[in-house]
Amino acid sequence: MKTVRDIAAARKVLAEWRDRQLSVALVPTMGNLHPGHLSLLQIAAEYAERVVATIFVNPMQFDKQDEVTRYPRTFKEDREKLNALGVDVLFCPDTSVIYPHGTELTTRVELPGLTEILCGAHRPGHFTGVTTVVTKLFNILQPDVAVFGEKDYQQLHVLRRVTEDLNMPVRIVAGRTIRESDGLAMSSRNHYLSAAERERAPQLHGTLMHTAKQLISGDRDFSRLERSATLKLRNAGFKPEYVRILASDLGGPEQSAVSDLIVLAAAWLGEARLLDNMILRNLMHDAPHASAR
Ligand code: PAF
Repeated sequence: MKTVRDIAAARKVLAEWRDRQLSVALVPTMGNLHPGHLSLLQIAAEYAERVVATIFVNPMQFDKQDEVTRYPRTFKEDREKLNALGVDVLFCPDTSVIYPHGTELTTRVELPGLTEILCGAHRPGHFTGVTTVVTKLFNILQPDVAVFGEKDYQQLHVLRRVTEDLNMPVRIVAGRTIRESDGLAMSSRNHYLSAAERERAPQLHGTLMHTAKQLISGDRDFSRLERSATLKLRNAGFKPEYVRILASDLGGPEQSAVSDLIVLAAAWLGEARLLDNMILRNLMHDAPHASAR
């Protein structure tokens, strides 16, 4: 695996591949890789002849500087994992390479509406950081395919919209959420859980699963289901930011078939902000592990 830190070196490798008409799949990450990321890389390898992973802790998508500083960094182990998986190139630029004019005065990619609901309502500016950095990575690396996890469902949906709106010729592929054996969605943020919190954490998945099953059994009183899931989480010691039942395009659920519904939640447990969702289509059908658009 080749490790490149600057844009010119990355473009040189990519140009050689393009000359040989090799397709390229990209998996952007912020490092601290866990089996969820590795599954995205495996999907990437199914979709293209060459795989590029990026590790860049993007300061523009964090609310506070200390969150950037305390973000877990495990570069050496990450590189070994990527190498073992047969990733072709790791692009790991410094902040000054991606934001030569700083993050405040850089050109931004803004998507109104979709980025202001759910996580966006609690983390203003977060999605602008994500859409800006991903657009930059797409422009630098020009992949044919990019793979993102369904765990960050709003991010996936926002990135699909931005790719479509800006006519970027990148196919967005979604990878299923990978879970611990007790149901907890894998996430770098799970490191922030104490041992006692880690024991309670799977109740987030359990609560969403329970709500999803009620929807499948025909209950369409969305507000009551959201309220009851929120209460359940509070009683289990979580501080929920939201529990929402929406259509898969993140619009209102009223007109949607049950198979098009999704239950989404963000909740704090101690110092960890946990994010999870249940996509009813995945529960109801034996869908494949990756869902292309
Ligand atoms: O999901 C993430 O890890 C990040 O938001 C991403 C897509 C790598 C952009 O920094």
